[in-house]
Amino acid sequence: MKKIIITGGAGFIGSHVVRRFVKSYPEYSIVNLDNLTYAGNLANLKDIENAPNYKFVKGDIVDLKFIQQLFADEQPDAVIHLAAESHVDRSITNPLEFVMTNVVGTVNLLNAARESWKGQYDKKRFYHVSTDEVYGTLGEDGMFTEETAYDPHSPYSASKASSDHFVRAYYDTYGMDTVISNCSNNYGSFHFPEKLIPLAIHNIQQKKPVPVYGKGENIRDWLWVEDHARAIDLIFHKAATGTTYNIGGHNEWKNIDLIKALCTIMDKKLGREDGESAQLITFVTDRAGHDLRYAIDATKLQKELGWVPSITFEEGLEKTVDWYLANEKWLTDVTSGHYQQYYTEQYNNR
Ligand code: NAD
Ligand code: DAU
Repeated sequence: MKKIIITGGAGFIGSHVVRRFVKSYPEYSIVNLDNLTYAGNLANLKDIENAPNYKFVKGDIVDLKFIQQLFADEQPDAVIHLAAESHVDRSITNPLEFVMTNVVGTVNLLNAARESWKGQYDKKRFYHVSTDEVYGTLGEDGMFTEETAYDPHSPYSASKASSDHFVRAYYDTYGMDTVISNCSNNYGSFHFPEKLIPLAIHNIQQKKPVPVYGKGENIRDWLWVEDHARAIDLIFHKAATGTTYNIGGHNEWKNIDLIKALCTIMDKKLGREDGESAQLITFVTDRAGHDLRYAIDATKLQKELGWVPSITFEEGLEKTVDWYLANEKWLTDVTSGHYQQYYTEQYNNR
């Protein structure tokens, strides 16, 4: 029997990780700890909410007393930590919120684990889910390896880099069993439509302008979210203590090319004329400090743990578009209310 606290399980990636663990490991007990911010949504987990090995707890990782009580109540064997403020644009508007959740929240979890797991570090594991953005930006060539020096540029990536450093410090200083993975851009179902791919799908469907920052020359390395969840499962179970793995799909796309590909798929799916949706593409003011290019070298994960992505980007993108078109209610629910205000503030003066 294993009890695992998964933080941020009601978010995009967290919901896929929770679903995978609940379904694949009926002998484990999964506690989903999430504060249900704008990005957290229990509708993401409707299909498993009544599973006997699943429990949801609403709570804030910034609240140390609450976290200590949770550890005392649940006596977890492991933590898989995904809870975070995750959107770069929001971090530019409100950096302190990112410091509180991503840095203070992570240190609170580490401290609660340190107290609760004293004398049993060899039987416990703290898995921290991080991002490739900690490595900064690449030029025309090269890739991020696990040895690349940290060089974050946005308040979001600076907060994630800081949390990674704290996790390593708890391994070095206290001997806590920690593991970190740094992944590239994810896409797939339940992705909140503030992020490029779901935002573009939503706007194309609504025939609204599709905002592309700058000239659309920035490059991201896209990975299907279920392949990320599978990598987390492998690393959680197989990685040696204190190690780090990069996760990525060898799948680099210029933003503008990606949006054009999406437009072509949407034209077909929506019965529009070829080229109709592409007319919605609108170049807008660039993101401040916009990293030019991310690319992950996932050789270590492939060689040591045998992980490779399971589907191509073409398949994944088509599946994703199909999911959004079939789940209009999910999209309508998450884009009503606060999202409208965010969207106006974020895009009206660009
Ligand atoms: P998300 O924004 O979709 O979800 C974050 C979740 O954390 C939400 O459910 C939210 O309610 C919860 N949360 C936020 N603040 C909290 C708090 N104070 N207490 C408890 N819960 C809180 O994020 P995501 O895209 O699913 O990312 C998950 C993790 O993976 C993050 O740590 C992110 O840095 C990392 N990551 C994301 C990507 C990506 O492409 N999305 C890639 C690599 C790494
Ligand atoms: O690389 C991993 C990271 O990927 C994660 O750590 C972050 O949590 C996740 O949000 C994502 O960060 P990005 O900033 O790369 O993702 P986003 O979807 O916000 O933007 C992708 C690219 O598209 C980026 O170059 C900015 C651009 N963009 C984004 C939006 C929202 C646009 O051109 N227009 C837009 O409206």
